[in-house]
Amino acid sequence: MLQSRLLLCFALFAFGAQSILINTTNISTILPLQATAYGSIFNVNVTFGNQTFPLLLDTGSADTWVLGDGWRCLPPQASPDSTATLQQANCTYGQPYYQASSTLTPVEDEWLGVRYGDGSVYGTVGGEDLKLGSIEVLQQTIGVVNISAMSGSDGVNVGLIGFGYPIISMIHPDSYPKNETLLANTVRYPVIFEGLIGAGMEPYVSVALERTPREEEIGFGGYLGLGNMLPVSQGPLVTVPVEVTEAIPIEVTNGVRQITEWTTTVQTASWTGNNTYLTPFQVVVDTGNPLNILPSELADAVNSAFSPPASTTQFDSLGAPAVSCNATAPEFALTIATHKFSIDSRDMIRRHASGACYSTVAPAPAPTDGLSLNFLGDAFMKNVVVVFDMGRNEMRFAERLDHATTTTGSPESSTPTSTPSPMAHIGSAGRLRPFWL
Ligand SMILES: *[C@@H]1O[C@H](CO)[C@@H](O)[C@H](O)[C@H]1NC(C)=O
Ligand SMILES: *[C@@H]1O[C@H](CO)[C@@H](O)[C@H](O)[C@H]1NC(C)=O
Ligand SMILES: *[C@@H]1O[C@H](CO)[C@@H](O)[C@H](O)[C@H]1NC(C)=O
Ligand SMILES: *[C@@H]1O[C@H](CO)[C@@H](O)[C@H](O)[C@H]1NC(C)=O
Ligand SMILES: *[C@@H]1O[C@H](CO)[C@@H](O)[C@H](O)[C@H]1NC(C)=O
Ligand SMILES: *[C@@H]1O[C@H](CO)[C@@H](O)[C@H](O)[C@H]1NC(C)=O
Ligand SMILES: *[C@@H]1O[C@H](CO)[C@@H](O)[C@H](O)[C@H]1NC(C)=O
Ligand SMILES: *[C@@H]1O[C@H](CO)[C@@H](O)[C@H](O)[C@H]1NC(C)=O
Ligand SMILES: *[C@@H]1O[C@H](CO)[C@@H](O)[C@H](O)[C@H]1NC(C)=O
Repeated sequence: MLQSRLLLCFALFAFGAQSILINTTNISTILPLQATAYGSIFNVNVTFGNQTFPLLLDTGSADTWVLGDGWRCLPPQASPDSTATLQQANCTYGQPYYQASSTLTPVEDEWLGVRYGDGSVYGTVGGEDLKLGSIEVLQQTIGVVNISAMSGSDGVNVGLIGFGYPIISMIHPDSYPKNETLLANTVRYPVIFEGLIGAGMEPYVSVALERTPREEEIGFGGYLGLGNMLPVSQGPLVTVPVEVTEAIPIEVTNGVRQITEWTTTVQTASWTGNNTYLTPFQVVVDTGNPLNILPSELADAVNSAFSPPASTTQFDSLGAPAVSCNATAPEFALTIATHKFSIDSRDMIRRHASGACYSTVAPAPAPTDGLSLNFLGDAFMKNVVVVFDMGRNEMRFAERLDHATTTTGSPESSTPTSTPSPMAHIGSAGRLRPFWL
């Protein structure tokens, strides 16, 4: 049923592509990131007109939106016409919110409706002048969200910036009802990645996520480079093509096999005790996903190699296995192309707002309508620099050399030293699983 619906609805996907005016000036910038929710969410400041907001940095989706003044919080997954309005605090964003500015040009006949793994947001559409560091994108298409049926953020960000491919963006024509599936009837528009290229950026962004101490709720989160490499020490770059994500049905891409997400293949996995997993699998490289979500056979084996083993029961509905905060994590590595990338033991166990801990290796959920995707999330990315090159359709990975890899163990205290934030979510685990899951 899902598939036939997709078949019907995705026929509009390739419609109305707008051309991008390329600015031949080569401009680039480096922005600092903020790590929140105990190193599970990464935010970047973006200026809309003259108002600056922290937005969640997400390579797994393609729209850019901010909460507009007076927005309404609904329970996760609620229909936009639901009257079950909650207090704004229940949606766990920060504040203040965006006020329509003199540089906003509303687009009257379109609306934003984006579905993520754990909820959806709805809003109006407009052109607004955005600044990211020294780069200004004039009249970038944005969403001003007035309904969030999604929670699980960090109490800090007030929106999201998506560096995904345009095919997964979700703005709709006004003629399309708001209570229908958000996967369908999308209007093709220049997403932020294209807007930046139009402003003169070389067509790549690079990301280096910083590891924060386990007990630190909010800290320095690393860098986002726009058309720029980053001021971190790194090994040689390993280049891989962005792959067509095989698990995504062709109906989603208008019957054409094409790139949708930043996808590559993990060739092998290995962990403590000379254990190996030799079946290659595709992964989506996603800054918006706190966890590494891996084939369940592999994830279960790695989780049972913690000492004591991680629980087979999930930490909460988001899918991370509970583990003792002072467990010893296995040495774990993933091979991309021919390079073995180790995951530091400090990234294998993460503190939850409640003070308990979870393993950052989660099993991919059972396929829904034949779909199940794997992800390399923040827990992997803290060990590397990743370049997302939309010009060449490739990703480049380099090991971080300024982060000494620990041997196993050396657990940090599990005693909370800071007051847990009111939000009791892991973060957006699962949020940026693809919208059709
Ligand atoms: C191109 O980029 C330069 C440098 O940022 C800027 O001054 C200029 O206005 C841009 N031109 C267009 C057409 O966007
Ligand atoms: C653009 O600028 C970046 C950063 O300074 C530099 O690495 C790159 O080579 C430049 N590209 C071109 C085509 O000039
Ligand atoms: C974002 O901007 C605010 C002030 O507008 C500043 O206090 C904060 O440090 C900035 N955060 C980052 C990650 O740049
Ligand atoms: C932004 O500009 C408006 C009107 O130009 C002005 O009223 C407002 O104070 C400015 N806000 C900031 C944060 O500078
Ligand atoms: C909303 O927040 C209030 C206050 O924190 C809390 O008591 C209530 O359970 C929350 N409701 C939902 C549906 O999350
Ligand atoms: C949100 O904006 C849409 C489009 O303008 C409008 O139809 C809807 O009533 C607004 N909802 C709220 C809660 O403001
Ligand atoms: C959307 O709303 C209309 C009118 O309120 C209703 O007829 C239709 O069944 C709804 N569609 C869905 C998918 O809920
Ligand atoms: C792992 O393999 C290496 C080389 O084959 C061997 O020297 C070592 O003893 C093995 N370790 C374990 C724990 O089996
Ligand atoms: C782990 O910590 C708990 C209490 O925090 C303690 O009871 C237990 O002995 C510790 N285990 C190890 C292996 O250190």
